[in-house]
Amino acid sequence: MTVLLLGMKIVRSSPNVGAEILGVDLRLLTDGEFEAIREAFTDHGVIFFRDQDLAPDEHIEFAQRWGDINVNRFFTAVDGHPQVAEVRKEPGQLANIGGVWHTDHSYDQIPALGSILYAREVPPVGGDTMFASQYAAFDALTDGMKETLLNLWADHSSRHVFGQDGDNNGLYNNPSSATQDAVHPVVIEHPLSGRAALYVNVGFTLRLHGWSHHESAPLLGWLYEHCGRAEFSTRFTWRPGSIAMWDNRAVQHYALNDYFGHRRLMHRITIEGTPIGPARRQPRPVAAAA
Ligand code: OGA
Ligand code: MN
Repeated sequence: MTVLLLGMKIVRSSPNVGAEILGVDLRLLTDGEFEAIREAFTDHGVIFFRDQDLAPDEHIEFAQRWGDINVNRFFTAVDGHPQVAEVRKEPGQLANIGGVWHTDHSYDQIPALGSILYAREVPPVGGDTMFASQYAAFDALTDGMKETLLNLWADHSSRHVFGQDGDNNGLYNNPSSATQDAVHPVVIEHPLSGRAALYVNVGFTLRLHGWSHHESAPLLGWLYEHCGRAEFSTRFTWRPGSIAMWDNRAVQHYALNDYFGHRRLMHRITIEGTPIGPARRQPRPVAAAA
């Protein structure tokens, strides 16, 4: 489906998630264009732009339209621009950043709204990013599973990824500041759309709150598999100048690590979020008449 708005074209990327926004230069946005982009962001969970030419200051200026910038504690910053994090993988490097399905910042009490990732240098082929709708993931569950999950909370942490003894792989800085832990509902009410979204991720969720790791593992394992199902997802192939801006409360993402021998360099700005709370319990279904 294509929607035309103020000369911009909004083209959905897949049935459940993502839209590409064509015909806009992010350096020259009018307020009307920005409002249309914000609406597309709320509707589609992740939005994509092509052929943008943004200096770090222009990237920052676009980001500031959305809210305050979250200065990343763990990523190396672009020289002279602490607000812009580098997401870099060098040709000889094995591990990448974000190479499993995950939700950024779920370890924070108030998780970031999302990130604006801008491609500077990309491999000739590979290095795509996948995004999966957590609205679609929730909607596809049975009523019984929904009812169960609506009562659960989960513990999230940054320590096992970014911390001293974590699986850091030399990718991140400041392990001593990986002290964040948070408890969030397993199903959140999205602060912009009001829709219910699944909110557990294999990257940062530790266990169901009040449950042991052993008790949690089977259900969480099933949910992690479910969250990233192909039907809920879209796959974005980068070119230099491409941008993806995703909503951490609506989608999970996954950076494919399939381009050994090539450099990939992205600039990322993260926007602060707002508090999240539990999705409302659904009304108890009325028993069907015999
Ligand atoms: C991130 C991330 C995805 C990518 O920056 O949080 O997961 O494709 N990046 O680089
Ligand atoms: Mn990420």
